[in-house]
Amino acid sequence: MGEESVDLREVLRDARRVVVFTGAGVSAESGIPTFRDALTGLWHRFDAAELATADAFRRDPALVWGWYEWRRMKVLAASPNDGHEAIAAMERRVSKLTLITQNVDDLHERAGSAAVIHLHGSLFAPRCFACARPAAFPEERPEEPEGGRRIEPPECAHCGSPVRPGVVWFGESLPEGALEQAFEAARACDVLFSVGTSSLVHPAAEIPFAAAQAGAAVVQVNPNATPLDRLARFNLRGASAQVMPRLVRETWPGH
Ligand code: OAD
Ligand code: ZN
Repeated sequence: MGEESVDLREVLRDARRVVVFTGAGVSAESGIPTFRDALTGLWHRFDAAELATADAFRRDPALVWGWYEWRRMKVLAASPNDGHEAIAAMERRVSKLTLITQNVDDLHERAGSAAVIHLHGSLFAPRCFACARPAAFPEERPEEPEGGRRIEPPECAHCGSPVRPGVVWFGESLPEGALEQAFEAARACDVLFSVGTSSLVHPAAEIPFAAAQAGAAVVQVNPNATPLDRLARFNLRGASAQVMPRLVRETWPGH
């Protein structure tokens, strides 16, 4: 890393509160297709923003449920990568680290991160479409063909309505508590990492801006340019599974 990262290592060692804000790019190296990449097979002629809505579910529940089941099976078959592991390791080195993710997978948890804030919900928390009570997945785990398939959603045990994925769809609000906690942590931190997110989807995309406004140093980890480039004090161009472990190693050598 260049000279810039020498400063970053100092900033990080001195930081009392760190926020790590992640997106689909963090899970890319675990083989989880990013949201927009996921539209292959059965869903290739759809737009992600078209499928991830309550309207789409109402219109064709089996199409939408099948899509999320396919994604859930991909996640179950995947493992956390070195990027997830490095973020969990960082949490053990700094006095306070808050991890905020837009991802609906559980790879941060499986890497050992505690108390992950899931802004966009989870693939593993289905609930009733009508009465919102938590629901369970059917016992047997479906073998999803590579191209995906339609699957009728289970019925709610209480009211018989279809069960929906526990994710935030377009047009829906984010879980209020999670959003509040995220902004609070962002406004109170010394350093915020934005890792693997296109910074395009609001309100989540505003979190790094809130941190910068409150005086935090913003660090971006992304192989590609994003709208956050101009705000970030440090732009680390590269893959999360390479950049994050190296940064942790170089900041806390000998650990
Ligand atoms: P996107 O798919 O929009 O963006 C993924 C970002 O990861 C891009 O900026 C890539 O350049 C970057 N990337 C790819 N490979 C990477 C790697 N190995 N290491 C680091 N970065 C990498 O995903 P998100 O920003 O997470 O919302 O999308 C935000 C939200 O949009 C999602 O949570 C989802 C979607 O609509 C909902 O479902 C509500
Ligand atoms: Zn119900």
